[in-house]
This record gives sequence, structure tokens and C-alpha cells, in this order.
Amino acid sequence: MPDDSPAADSSKREPVYWPRVKEILDGIMARWIERSGRQPLPGIHDFYWETPQALKDSVLSGIRAIEPGVPGRETALVRSLARAIGTSGRMPLRGPFLSREETDEIAAWIDSGTPEGP
Ligand code: HEM
Repeated sequence: MPDDSPAADSSKREPVYWPRVKEILDGIMARWIERSGRQPLPGIHDFYWETPQALKDSVLSGIRAIEPGVPGRETALVRSLARAIGTSGRMPLRGPFLSREETDEIAAWIDSGTPEGP
């Protein structure tokens, strides 16, 4: 049986816009705070982004989150959330973590040019 699920083919997926990316990122931080029972320490790196531009300009612990020309799945942002980054663990540190579907949505958003909306 061919896999015709939406996740199997990015061209069949609904476009992803900034509000969805923000929801995913804010949501995983809310779950992280709930799990760890504290706020993230200031001074490590930014944990919240209000606009696509803020995320595109973001340098997290010395590493650019998104770089022009780098495919979504290869950006430090998506790598950090899907696997691990540099010498640090997978983000947000110690979890809970995003699902594959959610990191795919962020990658698709980057690959479509980080649109704010339709
Ligand atoms: C370029 C991508 C990223 C890099 C290089 C990075 C790097 C780091 C480093 C070096 C630490 C501190 C490690 C330690 O204390 O041992 C850290 C902690 C953390 N990061 Fe990231 N990170 C990235 C992306 C993200 C993203 C996208 C999120 C959330 C959406 C995130 C959430 C966190 C959290 C919650 C902590 C723990 C903070 C605490 O313990 O108070 N990181 N990160």
C-alpha cells in the first residue's frame, strides 16, 4: 500500500504559517515548565519568539537558529528540537520533546520561506 498520509508527502500538507509555529514552540516550553516545575534560567538563550523575524535573527548559545539557504530540517533550530545540537542535548533540555510531525511542520515552514500568514 502506498503511504498517502499527509505526513508522507510535504507537497500534500497544509501550508504552515507563523501562528502555528509559535503555538508549537510556546506549547513545548509550557510543557517543559510544567515538567520541570520552574521557569527556564535567564541568560542561557531566548526561549520565546514573538515574530518570524525574531526567530530568524535568533542566535541561541552562539548558534544561528535559521540560516538563509539552509533546508529546514538541517537548520540548528530543527536539529536541536529533533535530535541534539552541538554538545548540548535535544531541546528543550531533558524534555518533553516535540513529535516528528511537529518538527516536520517547523521544517516545512522554513522551507516555504517563514511566512507570517497566507
Ligand atoms: C540553535 C539551537 C539551540 C541551541 C544551540 C541551544 C543550546 C542550549 C544550551 C547550551 C543550553 C544549556 C545547557 C546546559 O545548561 O547544560 C540550553 C538549555 C535549554 N534550551 Fe536550548 N538550544 C537551542 C534551541 C532551543 C529551543 C528551540 C528551545 C525551546 C523551544 C530550547 C530550550 C531550552 C531549555 C528549556 C533549556 C534549559 C533551560 C534551563 O535549564 O533553565 N533550546 N540550550
